[in-house]
Amino acid sequence: MSHPTSSPLQSSTAKALKGRIKVPGDKSMSHRSLMFGAIAQGQTKVSGLLEAEDVLNTANVMAALGAKVERQADGSWLIEGVGIGGLKSPKGDLDFGNAGTGARLAMGLMASTPLVARCVGDASLSKRPMGRVTTPLSQFGTVFETAEGGRLPLTLHGAANAKPVTYTLPMASAQVKSAVLLAGINTKGITTVIEPVATRDHTERMLKAFGAKLEVKEVGSARHISIEGGHELKGQVIAVPGDPSSAAFPMVAALITPGSDIVIENIMLNPTRTGLIDTLIEMGGNITIENRRLAGGEEVGDLHVKASLLKGITVPEDRAPSMIDEYPILAIAASFAKGTTRMQGLEELRVKESDRLAAVEAGLNINGVKTSSGKDWLEVQGGTAKGGGVVVTHMDHRIGMSFLVMGLAAPQPTGIDDGAFIATSFPGFTELLNGLGAAISAGSPK
Ligand code: S3P
Repeated sequence: MSHPTSSPLQSSTAKALKGRIKVPGDKSMSHRSLMFGAIAQGQTKVSGLLEAEDVLNTANVMAALGAKVERQADGSWLIEGVGIGGLKSPKGDLDFGNAGTGARLAMGLMASTPLVARCVGDASLSKRPMGRVTTPLSQFGTVFETAEGGRLPLTLHGAANAKPVTYTLPMASAQVKSAVLLAGINTKGITTVIEPVATRDHTERMLKAFGAKLEVKEVGSARHISIEGGHELKGQVIAVPGDPSSAAFPMVAALITPGSDIVIENIMLNPTRTGLIDTLIEMGGNITIENRRLAGGEEVGDLHVKASLLKGITVPEDRAPSMIDEYPILAIAASFAKGTTRMQGLEELRVKESDRLAAVEAGLNINGVKTSSGKDWLEVQGGTAKGGGVVVTHMDHRIGMSFLVMGLAAPQPTGIDDGAFIATSFPGFTELLNGLGAAISAGSPK
């Protein structure tokens, strides 16, 4: 999907946000349910799938590789899988759009099946590092022809007789872990990923539910995840809960907008994803989790959020993997807090949809917020947000949504240069927030 023209958006001081909302389905689980369904035997039925551009690209890719993928009239999705080793060379390019997760996990899924596929993405994805997956996948016997710097576009030649691999993750990345485990599914023998720092574990949980022979061992503070290849997966029924990374935006909006009181229903609360909630509570945020329950192997609950006076804290570095996508919106909360908030261990923020550390800092500064930063850290001085700036989003949905939230509580309106990329992860974002009382509209502040 391409975005030929930019669509600026602006937001201005909101009245108190009130109401109960649901946010769209979790992006990580949505990509995985389509991919695992595509290589399982039989049918997989998914309800609550995130129908955003990133995930719809994955659906198209799975269909191009031979799976049957259909949206039903009731909004659920049916996937007829091809069985392990059953994916076929696609006729055209596989277009992953803006999605790192789609591209990297699909490369793992294809790596140990003898097919040839050319993978492409938009300008943002084409700048992102792919060596982090092509290096371990090459050890299975997969061959890659890449653009300069190991980036997209690239052509993957899947291995006919893949060899199992043991790989220690050099960075905290669930995408790399998942790519290696997925390559292991169609590889005879045992493939092991050693994860020195825990990252989101949806691949492990969901593969187990599909019947994979997968084992997780805790060895000191590391996790050793092993999969025995050559065993078929069985189609599943999956209900995808709300995405905590999307809930983060209305959650911070309610905390910083005086008088707000909202409930965000049915949010996935997997402990590898809840670092932002812990951090905001530590900052004095009034957030309570109601109706905690288990659904489809994941903890879920409703988030009750009330406007709060926040205070700056130092966010522990080892919390970064559990809130890696949430630093942009945390930086907005920090700019309304009393005192300074320090965020550290942020090296991975440099290689997201944009260099998020630089994009966040530039956006804060243009709106009057004082900051300091280094290679992998950012400090935000609270209480200095004035608004009035138009933020460059660099094709990054989370930068866009974060600064629209800032405008709800800043004295002056804030703008973003392009709201089009919000559709990659959070269709209906503007309408949902406006339904609570926010004032987000097309155009730029005067
Ligand atoms: C994701 C993993 C994270 C995260 C991304 C989704 C996943 O990326 O930033 O939005 O679904 O596995 P990394 O694995 O590169 O940290």
